[in-house]
Amino acid sequence: MQQGTLIKHLGKHVGEEVTIQGWLYNKRSSGKIQFLIVRDGTGMVQSVLVKSEAPELFEMAKGITQESAIRVKGVVREEPRSMGGYEMSVTGVELISLAQEYPITHKEHGVDFLMDRRHLWIRTPRQNAVLRIRAEIEQTARDFFHQNDFTLVDSPIITPAACEGTTTLFELDYHGEKAYLTQSGQLYNEASAMAVGRMYCFGPTFRAEKSKTRRHLMEFWMIEAEAAFFDHEDNMKLQEEMVYFIVQRVLERRRKDLELLGRDISKLEAVKLPFPKLSYTEAVELLKSKGEEFVWGEDFGAPHETIISESFDSPVFIDRYPTEIKAFYMKPDPADPKVVLGADLIAPEGYGEMIGGGQRIDDLQLLEQRLEEHKLPKEAFEWYLDLRRYGSVPHAGFGLGLERTVAWICKLDHVRETIPYPRMLYRVYP
Ligand code: 4AD
Ligand code: MG
Repeated sequence: MQQGTLIKHLGKHVGEEVTIQGWLYNKRSSGKIQFLIVRDGTGMVQSVLVKSEAPELFEMAKGITQESAIRVKGVVREEPRSMGGYEMSVTGVELISLAQEYPITHKEHGVDFLMDRRHLWIRTPRQNAVLRIRAEIEQTARDFFHQNDFTLVDSPIITPAACEGTTTLFELDYHGEKAYLTQSGQLYNEASAMAVGRMYCFGPTFRAEKSKTRRHLMEFWMIEAEAAFFDHEDNMKLQEEMVYFIVQRVLERRRKDLELLGRDISKLEAVKLPFPKLSYTEAVELLKSKGEEFVWGEDFGAPHETIISESFDSPVFIDRYPTEIKAFYMKPDPADPKVVLGADLIAPEGYGEMIGGGQRIDDLQLLEQRLEEHKLPKEAFEWYLDLRRYGSVPHAGFGLGLERTVAWICKLDHVRETIPYPRMLYRVYP
């Protein structure tokens, strides 16, 4: 099939006649001139059709409805006042498919209305920009790990045991046996790190969260890394370098999309290395100094994270959480076993926890004891205990929630717009 020219490349064809193909985003007419605004997913261009130059074409174009698929031939002109900086003087229009009356008009619509039509909503410029920024972040994370000698090792989606507590498991009937959708690739990542040294995985993860908040999805994507001979400090350094790298790349390559979203870019430019660090205990003191009532040993809620993040321009690490409130695999701090060598990275501007990670227990006996305390079935974890039986080494890793990262970078109100098809408490359609 003939491909034509992508709208993003029109600048290379000034003065030439090209063919673009896409969909009619919008149309304006003055009676003598029609402006067809065409989008192809790489950009939008205004195509100008003059009645006196091609009366038949002009009549035909009048009938083209919003979101009809069209092929437009025309000469590219520089036009600084026009979107994208170029315009096309139309010499031909071919209708590929006439669209029925399109439900999403250029007026405002409610979120539920749009969510029910998510498969169409993603065509609009804002949603399109978010998808492109998301793709850039995914690609950048891959590039970062690739450049830093981390090997991609995929983790399974169907698993026999819980990684992050048993309350948010999606259960499956696996040919008569119980199995679960993965909550995190971590346990497999630890095995993979013992095989390849430094690894990462990137895939969908699932949590049957009963929460209906702007930060929670049932299905979300996690970028996870695990490295042998990395301690808690090495792990935090890796995280901050990755997040910084991502922010710089988006600023460099997706600035137009950020602008389209109305993002205050100076907030992203203010992100600096190294990221600030607080211990959990210091964070509790900070909260109290701001007038919050908080008891040492409790977990932070979203409002607490927001208060803490507001004190900093960059993402902030909170480390050494109480052992009691963290996962079974977290290594206790040898200097103070009441707390663990684990950290959360809290995003700026109230976006909450973006990364959870830490150093893992590498001692067999302690790990067995923790499984018992957490009432986890030892049989299902025998393979995981093997990692402590055969050449156990200090190791650490983390998981970055992609949707929360996209929400922060784009400054969106809700994670539902960061993923093409959000799975939420009461939504699994479309
Ligand atoms: O803090 P979490 O639960 O950490 C883990 O799962 C570790 N096993 C990861 C690891 O060390 N390999 O989840 C990691 C991140 C959170 O910081 C958050 O950004 C995101 O995943 N996350 C969610 N994002 C959207 N919806 C949810 N329901 C989420 N739950 C966690
Ligand atoms: Mg966490």
